[in-house]
Formats: sequence, structure tokens, C-alpha cells
Amino acid sequence: MDNSPTLTTARFLHHLHWPGVRTLMRPLRGVDLVAGLLTALLCVGCGVSYDEVAAPEPTPQAGYCRIPAAEVEARIDDLLPRMTLEEKVAMMAGTSGADGMWPTSRNDRLGIPGLIMVDGPRGVSAAAGHATAFPVGMARAATWDPSLEERVGEAIGIETRAMGGNVILAPTVNVLRHPRWGRAQETYGEDPLVLGRMAVGFIRGAQRHVLASVKHFAVNSIDDTRNFIDVTIDERTLREIYLPHFRAAVQEAQVGSVMSAYNMVNGQYCAENTHLLHDILKEEWGFEGFVESDWHLGTRSTVPSVLAGLDIEMPKPIYFDERLIAAVESGAVPEANIDAAVRRILRAQFCFELDTKPPQKDPTLVESPEHTGLALEVARRSIVLLKNDAASLPLDRSRVRSLAVVGKLADQGNIGDNGSSRVDPSYIVTPLQGIQNHAGPVNMVAVPTDVLSDEDRAAVRAADAAVVVVGLVAADEGEANDRERLGLSSKQEQLIAEVSVLNDRTIVVLEGGSAILVEAWIDAVPAVMMAWYPGQEGGNAIAEVLFGDVNPSAKLPIVFPRAEADLPPFPYRPLAITYGYYHGYRLLDRNGTKPRFPFGFGLGYTEYRYSNLEVARPVLSREESLRVSVDVTNTGARAGREIAQLYVSYRGSAVDRPVKDLRGFASVPLAAGETKRLSFELPVKDLAYYDVDVARWTTEAIRYVVQVGPSSADLPLSTEIEVRD
Ligand code: BGC
Repeated sequence: MDNSPTLTTARFLHHLHWPGVRTLMRPLRGVDLVAGLLTALLCVGCGVSYDEVAAPEPTPQAGYCRIPAAEVEARIDDLLPRMTLEEKVAMMAGTSGADGMWPTSRNDRLGIPGLIMVDGPRGVSAAAGHATAFPVGMARAATWDPSLEERVGEAIGIETRAMGGNVILAPTVNVLRHPRWGRAQETYGEDPLVLGRMAVGFIRGAQRHVLASVKHFAVNSIDDTRNFIDVTIDERTLREIYLPHFRAAVQEAQVGSVMSAYNMVNGQYCAENTHLLHDILKEEWGFEGFVESDWHLGTRSTVPSVLAGLDIEMPKPIYFDERLIAAVESGAVPEANIDAAVRRILRAQFCFELDTKPPQKDPTLVESPEHTGLALEVARRSIVLLKNDAASLPLDRSRVRSLAVVGKLADQGNIGDNGSSRVDPSYIVTPLQGIQNHAGPVNMVAVPTDVLSDEDRAAVRAADAAVVVVGLVAADEGEANDRERLGLSSKQEQLIAEVSVLNDRTIVVLEGGSAILVEAWIDAVPAVMMAWYPGQEGGNAIAEVLFGDVNPSAKLPIVFPRAEADLPPFPYRPLAITYGYYHGYRLLDRNGTKPRFPFGFGLGYTEYRYSNLEVARPVLSREESLRVSVDVTNTGARAGREIAQLYVSYRGSAVDRPVKDLRGFASVPLAAGETKRLSFELPVKDLAYYDVDVARWTTEAIRYVVQVGPSSADLPLSTEIEVRD
């Protein structure tokens, strides 16, 4: 175990500040609409409703500025020459924080409001008071619904402003390279497309009220050594796997700010990484906002950081203080760099109208019934049913007379880690309370322990079914705290084994931030669901899924492997590591390894059929878009929601390509018996790879296989298209 003083100090310092397709679905085009209506008419009387639908897409946002950009630039042109060097440098650092709020300096003389930052990705930080605790990012990713995420972003934006902040330090969009990453729960999974679509949703919602800060730029997916680790990564992997979602946040959602990561990438700390901050983010992507460093130990230098493009040192000036003034005076930093940074900071403040619409504290907007209601809606939509043999679920209240609810976690509020993303709602519905709330005539027997007594055993044996709640807690995973193992604790595994012997109808409810190894016990139980860290209303949502009031519809945004050996290496507290191109489903696909539960997998209480896959034009030029439509039918007896997925494979590519890449998805509600025609639209350019030799994206003129279906491992429909010069 590495107990080096640096690591321990870093952890201590860190804790000081915790008081703790394209959804590819476009709006309906006229022709499609007419066709859809005609088909619907033809189908009247045939018992099937038939619609062409486009997945709900987050509301578009035109440019960075909410008000005319030219006015803002003119105002900055006027201000900059009137500011002293000291005043300008003062804007480039935080001023420490209190009560969960992290301000930067305001300038009353010049009418500059300053920024007030607050965490974070699952709701407003506990340090700022009570707030709505939503399911964690990973749970929300399991909804595969960017428009739902937009509503979450909006609610968190409203609460941020109503609690006194104007920048929300979210969303976290780092790739889940390995499920042992402590902050897995904060992000949207392992795939750049899902990460990007969900981030765009969140940002658009939040930025109706405050600025968002997408984090942590970049390649930040190991936490124990996050302040020191040097990640070596080749340019193609960086561009194709670790950056596309940041680019979506910048170019599609016009994110207000970007937080640089703690770690090094290819030998340079992210806050002084010219390639990332200057070359890619600002020059190539045209990012117009500011970059702030991650917190303690997030900024490492004065001159290299400013020259690389870091605009704000958080949370207080250690390097961006007199040293920066001296560096300008000595000529080590041209004043033009300071002006450029201050321009970005001012642009953000004026463009987002922070001067004319300051935060207004309003407790009635925080943890409001609308927001806790949304937390419940999202929790319902985020629970993934992983196994359901012999239709063990749902539990029929008219048949199940008694239900044992077992496990310490059954009666524990378990909503995520205690790091910067911690949220403190005024109540948490535990699974036990939720089941009690929804049990109706069912007699619930509470056994909230991991170690059974003889009396408990008798109760479990006597019940018609048993629900065992197990999983991870904040001590197992979180910020600066990577997981030590992928399985449950041996105590919990033993508990499942014991209950499954006592009761044939044992249902396991898992909680946690990412994949859990289930091999030790999966065959012993008929049903398993992944509830993640489900937010303050989670217990109600779990109960509703158990009793069938809600038909589960979520799917895994990550792969659940059978063994840790199937994943990329995740050494213990590494100070240096090389990231390869492959992780998650792409790695398992490449190695021909069967996952326990595939990426994109999730069951429901109904069945869906995919049919009639059609591409509008099978031969395309690079400038065109691939248009794919497919029918999805709910063949079961109850209403549900299906997440359809589109993957593309490559025939005869000049470079190594994944077996398949997710390129589109859509979440669609379907009544019993209903068929909807889904249409995906994907610019051919999105099929490009990053050609390192010419430093450019290259779209190959080759054949591409398009596959559609319910999960990465179940793609019943397939067709080919060709891209020609
Ligand atoms: C975390 C950030 C967080 C910041 C402020 C850092 O340690 O990495 O995600 O926003 O603290 O709390």
C-alpha cells in the first residue's frame, strides 16, 4: 500500500474543502410526417397504431451568447483598457469559498459580477444546504434519454441559482474506462456517444439558469492518484474515445466553462496542457468560454498554465497572484494572454447575463415537489432489470402474501459518495420505506441486516418472496477513493447465498455506481435489478418496479463483465499508466469475451420486436447523412419504453476499428401492441477515424454495416451501406 506523504497530504488537502443519434433523431421532416400519417390511417382498424417518431432531442442552443455577442465584445473592448493589471489578474482566481459556494472576485467599480461556483452532478452540493438529490449520473445515463436529462439539468440549474450560485460544477463526463474508478457514479458511462448526448441534455437544461462547467478535461478516470498520475495516450485514442463528448458539450451545448482535470496527459498536467486547452479546446473547437482548474493541486504553475490557456485558478490564488503580475511585468507572460483570459471570463459573465440577472435566493424553488417528483421519475427510468427468470417479477400483490426485505442496505439511505458531489436532501426514501409505501395488502417482513439470526431465517423461509438489497456505499467508492474490488463484500455474497437457499423467489436489488461482479451468486437467484444510487426517492422507485407499477425500461450504459481480467488493467494507485484504445464493450467485442450483462442491455415486463430496417440511400457521399428507419413493436400486454440502439461496423477499413460502435439510440414509449417507426439520421462524417499521420478526421470510402436492436449483444437487423468518393 502506498502511504507516501504526498498522497496522504493530497487527500487531506482535498477533503479540506468538503464540509462535507446525436440521438440521431431529427424533428420529423414533412415527407416523413405525411408518410407516417398515411400509414397510421391505413392502419386504422388493423389494431396497431403506427407512427414515425423522432427521439426527443434537447432544445437547440444557437450560440454561446444569450444576448447579442457583438454588444458583449464591444463592452469588453471598452472595459479591458480601463482595468489595471491587478484588477485583471484578480479575476483569474477564486477567492476561497464558504457554504459550498466558490466565488471569483467581483469588481463593483466596473460592474463585473464575478462567478459563484457550486457542485455538482447529482444536485446542489450538501455544503450549500438541503437540495434535491437526483439519481447519480450513471443511473441517469441508464435512461438513455437526453431530453429527460435536460429536465434534470434544468432543475439543478434552478436550485443552483436559488441557492446563490451562478455556475454549476457539472456535468462530469469522463469515460468510465474501468468500473473500479471511484467517481464512476458521477459520469454517464463508458461510451462517448451516450456521454455526449447526456451531457448536451444536462448543459442545455442547466444553462437556462446558470453556467455549466463540464469536467474534468481530460482523461480523468482513476481517482486514488488523480493529482499525480500521468496518462500516456495516443492521439487517435484521445480524439475518438476520450474527447468527443467534451466536444459535443462545447459545440452543441455551448457549455459556459470547462474544468481542467488534475492528472497529467502525456507528461503535462491538464491545467498546463497546451495541446488540450489551447490547440484542441480553444483553437480547434472554437470554445469561447473560460477554463478553470480543478481544485487543490489542480493548478501547478504560473507561466506554463497561463500560456497553455488556463483562465482561472480555483479555488484560491496560489499561482495566479503576485507571481502572475510579476510574470507579466518581466515579460514572461505577454499581457495579451491576460487580456485573452479576462475577455473569456467577462464574456461568460455578460453572455449569461450574470450582471443583470444575479442569483436570487429562494428556498421555495429548492427540493420543490416538482423536483423531488422529477427525482422519482428519473429513478423509475434508471433501474435496470438484469435478470428475471420464470417471471419472478413483478410481484403480484394479489398472490404474494408476504415479502421479506433483507439486507443492511434495505434500510439505509444510499445515494452516493461523500466527495464534492455529495447532496444532502431533507429526506431519503430507503428501499424498505419504499416497499412499505407500496406493499398494499402484502405483509412486509423487515430483515434489515446482513447477518441473519435463526428468527430471521425462519421469517425469510416463511415469506412468499424475498428481496435482498446489497451493493456498495460511500466508503467503497467515491472521490479520491477507487474501488478495491469489483464484487460485493463476502458478507453480502454469503447473505445472498443464504437467502436464496431459504427462499426460491429471491430478488436481488443492487446499489452502486458501476459494474458489480455477480458470478459468485447469479445462478442461485431468479431475479436481479441494478438500482445504482437512486437519489432521494429511490426507495419508492425500487418498490414500484418490484410490484410492477412501473415497467422497467433502463439499459446498462456500461458493460458488466464476468471477471475483472476481461477489463483493461487498473493497477493499485498507479503514478503512470498507458491508456489503449479499447475498454468496455469494444474491448470485450475485440477479444470475443462474453460479458455477464452486455452494454445496452436491460429487461422489462414486456417484449419488443424489431422489423423493417431500411436505409434511405444505400450509397452515399461523405457530405450526406445516413438515414435509417426501423419498426419497433411492443408485442407484450403492457405499455413500456424501449431503448433502440444502432451500431456501425466497418468493412475493409485501412485502420484497426472496433467490431462495432454505437452510433445512435432512441428511447421510445410504446403502448401494448403498438408499433412505431423510428428514424435515425447520422452524418456520414461521424463515421470517420482520426488519422494521426495527417492530424485529421478521415471518412473512408468503404462499406459500413448498420445494425439495430435492443442491446449491443442483440442486433437482429442489419444492412450495409457504401460510402463512395
Ligand atoms: C473535484 C471537482 C469539484 C471541485 C470543487 C474537486 O476536487 O474534482 O469535481 O467540482 O473539487 O468541489
